[in-house]
Amino acid sequence: MQWKGFLGGVLVTLVGLGVGAYGAASLGWIPANADERPGTLERKFAHTALDAWMEKNSPHQENPVALNDANLLAGLKLYRNNCAGCHGDKDVVADFGRAFYPPAPQFSTQRTPGDPDAVLFTFAKRGVRLTGMPAFGGMLKDEEIWTTVLFIKHLRELPPGVAKEWKN
Ligand code: HEC
Repeated sequence: MQWKGFLGGVLVTLVGLGVGAYGAASLGWIPANADERPGTLERKFAHTALDAWMEKNSPHQENPVALNDANLLAGLKLYRNNCAGCHGDKDVVADFGRAFYPPAPQFSTQRTPGDPDAVLFTFAKRGVRLTGMPAFGGMLKDEEIWTTVLFIKHLRELPPGVAKEWKN
């Protein structure tokens, strides 16, 4: 009958942890503010789960929008209208986007996201839970999202005609 005592102990521990977590939450011990940067551990854990979900739920295909000036220009407009306010414009950091927790990565001034187009498409279409990243699926057509992703991926190597428009 020893295992019964063991299981009882496990149960008491679990209930204790649950009560403790609830207590910590109701006493205001769990930070809820946005004016700090997420710690390394939090970022690593959250991003592992996030990247795995996005990858699993992405359409696993190439970007169906052809790489040419017209489509890059269309993507530029879509990006400026829908994303730049949080992800930054030409040489401009978006203070609004930086004020979120976690902050919006600055695609224009910091880094081009390395994920495949289909994963970025899923980020934009489905949004990211408990962050400032909205789900654009209800606001933009799939083709518009692919076109925006095309622009983001080529932001650092724009052909002259498109680069001229990006400077404005
Ligand atoms: C209201 C602010 C806001 C707007 C507008 C916005 N985003 Fe975001 N976005 C965020 C935030 C905040 C994150 C960070 C989420 C995280 O770290 O988990 C993010 C993350 C992302 C990511 C994941 C990038 C990575 O490598 O971690 C992609 C891709 C993305 N956004 C695409 C877009 C696109 C495309 C648009 C426009 C159609 C857009 N976002 C508009 C706030 C925004």
